[in-house]
Amino acid sequence: MTLLRDERLAAAFDHAARRYDALVAANPGYHAQLRRSVRRLGLPRGGEGLRVLDLGCGTGASTAALTAVLPGARITAVDASAGMLERAAAKPWPPGVTFTRAPVERLARAGVRGPYDAVFAAYLLRNVTDPDAVLTAVRGLLAPGGRLGVHEYTLGGRRLDRAVWTLVCRGIVQPAATALGDGELYRHLWRSVVEFDTADRFADRLRTAGFDRVRALPLPGWQTGIAHTFTGRRPLPEQDAAR
Ligand SMILES: C[S@@+](CC[C@H](N)C(=O)[O-])C[C@H]1O[C@@H](n2cnc3c(N)ncnc32)[C@H](O)[C@@H]1O
Repeated sequence: MTLLRDERLAAAFDHAARRYDALVAANPGYHAQLRRSVRRLGLPRGGEGLRVLDLGCGTGASTAALTAVLPGARITAVDASAGMLERAAAKPWPPGVTFTRAPVERLARAGVRGPYDAVFAAYLLRNVTDPDAVLTAVRGLLAPGGRLGVHEYTLGGRRLDRAVWTLVCRGIVQPAATALGDGELYRHLWRSVVEFDTADRFADRLRTAGFDRVRALPLPGWQTGIAHTFTGRRPLPEQDAAR
C-alpha cells in the first residue's frame, strides 16, 4: 500500500474517529506519555496566560494532556479530520480551549495566527506530505524563545526497535483495527513509521528547520526505542542573527 496523505488520510481518520479513543485506551500509558511530553516542554508551572497550539489534536488526547499540565493556558487545537474534531469538541473542556478544522499546511487561511508560546504536535508530523515546510511554518508561528514539543513514533535505529514495532502492529494493532473496519489506516500507521525518520534524523530535521536547544528524549515502557519526545525552541533574535 502507499501511504495515506491529505484528503485520503483525513477521510481514513473520519472513518476511524468513533473507535479511536477505545483503540488508544488499549495502549498502556498512551495518555501518561502525552502528559510526560508536555511536561518536557519546560513551560512555567500551570501555564497561566500562555498561548499554546495543539496541531493534529485528533479526538483531543493531546489537548487533554495540555490542559492537565498547563491548566492556565489558552489552547487552540487544530485537525484536518472533521470526524476526529467532532469527537474532540463533544468532550467537556475548560474555558480557553478552542477547536479549528484546518490542514496544518493552511493554518493562516483558517485564522490560526501566532505568536504562540508553545506548539505541540503528537503523532502528526510523519503523516504530512512535507514535514520540513510544516516545521518552518510552525517556527514562524512561535514567539522568539517559544517552545516546540513533538511526540512521535520515531525508531531508535536498532534492528530490535523496528522488530518490536512490527510485532506490535502486526500482532495486536492491525488485527484489532481490521476487525473494526479501519485496517487501511493502521497499515498506514506501520508503514508511516518505518519509512519516516529515525529519532536522530528527526532531531537533525528540527535543527535544519531553525530550532535550537533540540533534544530527543526516549519514552518509557514498551515504546522505548519506538517513540520519542522532541523539544526545541525558536531562537531569540540575537541568537537567530548569529546563526
Ligand atoms: C494519530 S492522530 C493523533 C491525535 C492526537 N494528537 C493524539 O495524541 O491522540 C493524528 C491526527 O493528525 C491529523 N492530521 C494528519 N495530517 C494532518 C494535516 N496535514 N493537517 C491537520 N491534521 C492532520 C489526523 O486527522 C489525526 O486526527
